[in-house]
Amino acid sequence: MSEIQLSVNLNKVALIRNSRGRNLPDLEKVAQDAVAFGADGITLHPRPDERHAKKADIYTLKHSLQVELNVEGYPSEEFLRMIEKVKPAQCTLVPDPPEALTSNAGWDTLKNKYLLLDIIQRIQSAGVRASIFVETNLDHIEAAREIGTDRIELYTEAYATEYANGNPDAVAPYARSAAFAHELGLGVNAGHDLNLDNLAHFAKEVPNLAEVSIGHALVCDALYYGLETTIKRYKECLAN
Ligand code: PXP
Repeated sequence: MSEIQLSVNLNKVALIRNSRGRNLPDLEKVAQDAVAFGADGITLHPRPDERHAKKADIYTLKHSLQVELNVEGYPSEEFLRMIEKVKPAQCTLVPDPPEALTSNAGWDTLKNKYLLLDIIQRIQSAGVRASIFVETNLDHIEAAREIGTDRIELYTEAYATEYANGNPDAVAPYARSAAFAHELGLGVNAGHDLNLDNLAHFAKEVPNLAEVSIGHALVCDALYYGLETTIKRYKECLAN
C-alpha cells in the first residue's frame, strides 16, 4: 500500500506574518523547509479577506515548490479564476461562507449536485485534480462520485473531538466511508483537527487514505518541538 501523504497547511504561518505587515516569517521559505523536513505537499486556504494566505502566496508557492500544492476554498468566481490561472496540483472545495473562522461542515453533495458538477468540470478542464470536502454520509459520497470529483476529503473534526473524549471508536464511520469511496473509484483525503494524539489511530484504522492535510495543531506543535521534529513526528504517525 502506498504511503499516506502529509500536506502541511501553512495558513497559520501566513497569519503570523500578516499580523506585522512584513515578510516574517517568510512563507515561501517555511514551505521549502517543511518540504525539506519531509512534508509531501503544502496546502493553502486563501479566504476573500486574505487574513491568512493571500492570493499572491498561491502564485509564489506554485512556482517555487517541487511538491504538490493543494488550494482549498469556497468556489466563488474569483477563486475559480485563480485556480484556472495557477493550476495547483489539487483544488479542494469547501462549502463555508467567506467569514467563517475555519471550515465547519462538509458539502451536502445531494443539494449542491448541479452547482458542483459544473465547478468540478471547470477545475478538471484546467488540469487540476478536484477534491470535495464531505462528512461521512454515504449518500453524499455517492453523489460526489456522480458529480465526477477525483477525490473526497473527509472532514475529521467529529472524530478528533470524540477521540479527545476517550472514544477512539469514533473512527468507525470514517473507515466505512473511506472503504466505500475507494470502491466507487474515489481517492480519499482527510483533514481538520488531526494532531499528534489522534493521527496514528486514524491512519491505522482508515483504509485507502491518500493524504491528510494538517495545519493548526502542526504549527502549534512546532512552537515546542521545532518544525523539523514536528513534521517527522507527524510522518511517523502516518507510517505506523
Ligand atoms: N481541510 C480543510 C478543508 C480545512 O479547511 C482545514 C483548515 O483550514 C484543514 C483541512 C486543516 O485543519 P487543521 O488546521 O485543523 O489541521
